[in-house]
Amino acid sequence: MAAALEHVPVLLAEAIEGLRIEENGVYLDGTFGRGGHSAAILSQLGVDGQLHAIDRDRAAVDVAQQRFAEDARFSIHHGEFSQLDQYCEQRGLAGRLNGVLLDIGVSSPQIDDPGRGFSFQFDGPLDMRMDQTRGETAAQWLVSAEASEIARVLKEFGEERNAKRIASAIKRTLQERSIETTQGLVAVIESATRVRDRHKHPATRSFQALRIQVNDEMGALRRALDAAVRMLAPGGRLAVISFHSLEDRMVKRFIRDESTPREVARGLPQKTDHIRLKSVGKAIKAGESELKKNPRARSAVLRVAERLP
Ligand SMILES: C[S@@+](CC[C@H](N)C(=O)[O-])C[C@H]1O[C@@H](n2cnc3c(N)ncnc32)[C@H](O)[C@@H]1O
Repeated sequence: MAAALEHVPVLLAEAIEGLRIEENGVYLDGTFGRGGHSAAILSQLGVDGQLHAIDRDRAAVDVAQQRFAEDARFSIHHGEFSQLDQYCEQRGLAGRLNGVLLDIGVSSPQIDDPGRGFSFQFDGPLDMRMDQTRGETAAQWLVSAEASEIARVLKEFGEERNAKRIASAIKRTLQERSIETTQGLVAVIESATRVRDRHKHPATRSFQALRIQVNDEMGALRRALDAAVRMLAPGGRLAVISFHSLEDRMVKRFIRDESTPREVARGLPQKTDHIRLKSVGKAIKAGESELKKNPRARSAVLRVAERLP
C-alpha cells in the first residue's frame, strides 16, 4: 500500500480558537506533522506575526521546508518539542510566546508508511522511531530490555492484559532468532494471546505501547508542558491535543496543579505562588461530523490553558 501523504488535522477549528491568535503574535507549533495546524495559524497571522514549528521527523521537516519556503513568518526546526525552551532561549523568544500548540502522537503518513514500522497491518522493519536519526529501534529495544520491563511497558502504555505472556514469548523467540519485522512481532504476539478482544487486533495494544516507549512519549510530554509554560508570555495560550488516556491525564493534572491553590496546613492561608496557569474551558472532543470524515479523531482530546502574569 502506498503511504498516505496527507494528514487530516484533528480538532483544527477548536485548537485555533483555543489559541486565540493575535495578528502579530509569536506562535510555536511543536508538532508540525504535515502542517495542517501550522497553515491555519499562518492564515490568521499578520505580516509581523511569527510561527516557529518543530518536528522530530525529518520527513515532516522536509514537507515544511517545501510547503512554507516562501513565507518569511515561518521557520521549521528538526528537533524535540521537549526542548522547546532551549529553542526559544537561543532565539530570544523566552517568555514571548503568545501560543504553543502540541498535537501529540503519530501522523497518518507515519502510520501508513510500512517502512516506518508503526503499523501491525503492514510488513516492514520493526523501527517505530519518529526521529530515525537517533535512538533505539523497537527491534533493538526488545533485545536490550528484560522480560519484566517489556511486560511493564505493554501493561502501562498499552493496557495489555496478556503483557507477561507476550513479553516472555518475545524473549523466548529472541533466544532462537531475531525479530526484525512488524509481522515477525505480530506472529509472536498472536501466539501468546489467549484472551482476545473481539473488536481489536491482538497486536493493537502492544504496538501502541512499544511506540510510546521507543519515542519516550510520556517523558517528552512531561518536559514540554513545563517548558511551554515558562516560555509563554502573560496571557499566552497552551493548547494540547492528546490521543491516549495516559497523556490526557498528564495534561489534565498538569493544568490542574498549575492552576489550583495548595493547602499547606489546615487553618493556614492557601499557597498560590506556584500558580502559573488558568484553565480555559473544558476538555474538547471531536464532534459527529469530524468523526465521520476522520475516524482517527476518535480518541483526540484538546485542553487549553492560559499563562497568568
Ligand atoms: C499528530 S501529528 C501532528 C499533525 C499536525 N498538527 C498536522 O496538522 O499536520 C504529530 C507530529 O508530531 C511529531 N512529534 C511527536 N512527538 C514529538 C516530539 N517529542 N518532538 C517533536 N515532534 C514530535 C511527530 O513526528 C508527528 O509528525
